[in-house]
Amino acid sequence: MTTKTDAAEPTPLQERLVQLIKLKGPITVADYMSDALGHPHDGYYMSNNAIGADGDFITAPEISQVFGELIGLWLVDAWRAMGSPSDFNLIELGPGRGVLMDDILRAARLRPAFTGAAKLWLLETSGRLRHEQQRRLRTSEVNPNWVDEFADIPPAPSLIIANEFFDCMPVRQFQRIETGWRERLVGVGDDGKSLEFVLGKTPPPKSFGLPEIDDTKPGDIFELSFEGRDLAMQLAEFLRTNGGQALVIDYGHMQSGLGDTLQAVRGHKFWPPLAAPGSADITAHVDFEKLAQTAFDCGAVVYGPVSQGTFLERLGLNLRVEMLCKTQDKKKADEIRAGAYRIAAPDQMGEIFKVMAISAPGLDEPAGFEET
Ligand SMILES: C[S@@+](CC[C@H](N)C(=O)[O-])C[C@H]1O[C@@H](n2cnc3c(N)ncnc32)[C@H](O)[C@@H]1O
Repeated sequence: MTTKTDAAEPTPLQERLVQLIKLKGPITVADYMSDALGHPHDGYYMSNNAIGADGDFITAPEISQVFGELIGLWLVDAWRAMGSPSDFNLIELGPGRGVLMDDILRAARLRPAFTGAAKLWLLETSGRLRHEQQRRLRTSEVNPNWVDEFADIPPAPSLIIANEFFDCMPVRQFQRIETGWRERLVGVGDDGKSLEFVLGKTPPPKSFGLPEIDDTKPGDIFELSFEGRDLAMQLAEFLRTNGGQALVIDYGHMQSGLGDTLQAVRGHKFWPPLAAPGSADITAHVDFEKLAQTAFDCGAVVYGPVSQGTFLERLGLNLRVEMLCKTQDKKKADEIRAGAYRIAAPDQMGEIFKVMAISAPGLDEPAGFEET
C-alpha cells in the first residue's frame, strides 16, 4: 500500500507529462485526467489502494450493504419486467472492489432463476482492482468475465449498473475570456517541474455548442465530457437494440450549467488536481441533463434523474434497515442506521448523488422513478 503524505512530491507520471508538454505543448484537461486515472503504469487506479476507509475515498456500497441489496432487488424487478429472459447480460461499469456486485448477487439469490440466467460482465481498467473483484466474487453463483471496452460485451438483453463511473470520464474545460471562449489546458509552470492551467490561443469550434457569450461572464468555466457522451451513446444504442435497462448513479447536476467541478481527493481530503498526478483520485460532476439528452437522441427512454435519497427510500430503504436491525445488537444496529443515514440523508450523499435509468423503449417504468 502506498503511504501518502500531505506533500506534493512529483510523481513519475508528473515528470513524464512535463516532458511531453515541453515537447508538444499544453494538453487538454481530459487528456490529463485520462492519464492521471488510467495510465497503464502510473495511473491512479493501477497502483493505489483507492477505495474504502484505508484508501482515498469511500462509495455508497462501501458504507452500507443496504445500498447494493436494494439495487439487487431493483435489478431482479427489471429482469422480471423484461419477461425474465433465460439468458441476459448483467453488466457493471467500474466495479471498484466488487462490493456492490457482491451485495447485488446476495440479494438476488431470492430469485435463483435470475442468477441462473445472468452472464456477468465487469468493465474494469485496473488489473489491481480486477484481482480484488475476482477474490470477492469467487464464491458467488455467477462467474465474472472482464472486458476492457463496452464494445467487447456480446449482444443480449442487458441490465447495467454504473455507480460512480461516469464521474471518472475525462472532461474538457473551457474558460470565458473578454472576447469569447478558450480551452483550459494543462501546461508547465515557471519552475519547469510543476503543472499549471493555461489557456488555449484560439477559440474552440462552434460545433462544441458552448454557452452564448451574453449568458456568461469572464472567468466562467464550462465542461464537456466527450468520453461520457460517447459511452452514453453506446449504452443507449446497445439497450435499444438488445433490450434492457441501465442504472446510472453518480454525483452531479440535474441541469447543464457553468462551473469548475474538477476535483481531486487523496486520503479522504481534497487535493489540488494538478499536484502529483497518479497519486489522487480525480473526478468531475456528471452533467445529467446532457447524459439524458444523449441517450434520448439515440432512441432510449430516460427516467429521472432523482436524488439518491429519494430513490433509495422509494425502494424501501427504511424497511430494509429496520429488518436488518431486528437481528443485531444495539452497536451493530446503530452502525447500520448510521450507514443508511450517510447514503440517503440530504445533507450527506442523498441529494448530491443522482440516479437515472436508461431504458429500451416499451418496458415498464422502473421502480424508484414513479412520479409523485
Ligand atoms: C470510483 S470507482 C467506483 C467503484 C464502485 N462502482 C463502487 O461503487 O464502489 C471507479 C471504478 O471505475 C474504474 N474505471 C475508471 N475509469 C475506467 C475506464 N475508463 N474503463 C474501465 N474502468 C474504469 C476504476 O478502476 C474503478 O473500479
